[in-house]
Amino acid sequence: MSSVPGLAKPARKLLIRTWGCQMNVYDSGRMADLLAPLGYAPTESPEEADMVILNTCHIREKASEKVFSDLGRLRETKKARAAEGRQTVIAVAGCVAQAEGAEITARAPWVDIVLGPQTYHRLPEMVARASRAAGAVIETDFPAEDKFDHLPEARGAQGPVAFLTIQEGCDKFCSFCVVPYTRGAEFSRPAAAILAEARQLVAQGAREIALLGQNVNAWAGEAPRTALSPAGSTWGLARLLRELAEIPGLARLRYTTSHPRDMADDLIAAHGEIPALMPYLHLPVQSGSDRVLAAMNRGHKADLYLRLADRLREARPDIALTSDFIVGHPGETAADFEATMALVERVGFAGAYSFKYSARPGTPAASMAGLVAEPEKDSRLQTLQAVLRHQQDAFNRACVGRVVDVLVTGSGRHPGQVAGRSPWLQPVHAPMPHVPGMPPVGAVVPMTLVAANPNSLSATVVHEESAAA
Ligand code: SAH
Ligand code: SF4
Ligand code: F3S
Repeated sequence: MSSVPGLAKPARKLLIRTWGCQMNVYDSGRMADLLAPLGYAPTESPEEADMVILNTCHIREKASEKVFSDLGRLRETKKARAAEGRQTVIAVAGCVAQAEGAEITARAPWVDIVLGPQTYHRLPEMVARASRAAGAVIETDFPAEDKFDHLPEARGAQGPVAFLTIQEGCDKFCSFCVVPYTRGAEFSRPAAAILAEARQLVAQGAREIALLGQNVNAWAGEAPRTALSPAGSTWGLARLLRELAEIPGLARLRYTTSHPRDMADDLIAAHGEIPALMPYLHLPVQSGSDRVLAAMNRGHKADLYLRLADRLREARPDIALTSDFIVGHPGETAADFEATMALVERVGFAGAYSFKYSARPGTPAASMAGLVAEPEKDSRLQTLQAVLRHQQDAFNRACVGRVVDVLVTGSGRHPGQVAGRSPWLQPVHAPMPHVPGMPPVGAVVPMTLVAANPNSLSATVVHEESAAA
């Protein structure tokens, strides 16, 4: 590649690997934005990378162990590159970095930087220090300043679907969960900053924005200061959604992940009142047993969840509900598990993630009695997943025959196909003739859903005349 003499930035390559939740995906994007001005261009190849960032997840044991196997391989790559006189900076970011900073540098001394999720804005400075220093640079404090105030504006060309973090951290302290320790206390970004970032994303081509937060529906942000709204007033999520829906060009809004306890009345009502708000809600319940919900410190009973499901469906009859489940939390009996199965039957989910309980160091559940044996956890998980899969298939089949708006996201896997997503987040593909300007990425196109496949829906484009009929 040639570059303009005098204007050339050092040409360096950056590889970021991301595990865990969508917030990590968002954070990885922001770290790339931050390093781009230093001359780092993305690569997928570890051999080419002058810097590698592993953006890690600590939520279950398996997730965090993957980091160490990856680091083992990177050690060899770093050695091979060093033999050719090339330096490689290895950074571990994310929730494993936050939870196990010291252990990482002890187990993998070839790591140069360990940085927690609240310190990403300091990355350029850390890179400079790491290139000079012999030992590792570790930054896992929760700094007083707001990382969002110090991150650059989001970069361009992100495609029609964008994420926007509006809230970070968690004060709920569920018995099993590391998030309150790795992401810190709940923090809501001010509304004005969120609205500005959303406008910018739309200007860059976003048609759908998913608002992110570990407890996104607990968002309570400072209201924009106007003549009518004095300093110090706050908005809730329903109000924020209403304002975001007014942004010209923004077709779709979603938010994730929500907690049942924070499902406010006005937010439920918003599902029936804001057309841009998609009929889809990920609302994790974890268990259907009141005993287990209490042991989990979830702060609500199964009945609250059932009532929420009913009220959401009253507000928006076509809403799809999805959830997370944990089987085998300490103390979970066969009867407790049956209560979970009963809740699943009663609610009817359009999809769900389900996990075997994994003990996490430092969490209250890790020292609770009543461990459930591994084979029992396996069998409960299989039973639960079979029903959830069945419900998901039934939901997808029930969509066949409907005409829905599909947001076109790109080309399909086969020539002459476009790919997109339905209002219910299902991947959709449809035949579309290949003419210039096709596929119309970012267009919202009415399509008839014609078949439900295991992982997607097939559709045909509704033509103007028939759509009007
Ligand atoms: N904030 C979200 C959850 C974030 S973690 C919420 O409150 O629902 C994503 C999911 O991982 C959780 O919903 C839970 O189902 C699962 N999970 C968290 N800790 C776990 C653990 N120790 N073992 C197994 N699954 C866990
Ligand atoms: Fe974890 Fe519970 Fe907070 Fe969700 S609400 S992030 S499960 S502690
Ligand atoms: Fe994992 Fe941290 Fe997200 S533990 S799920 S990356 S908040």
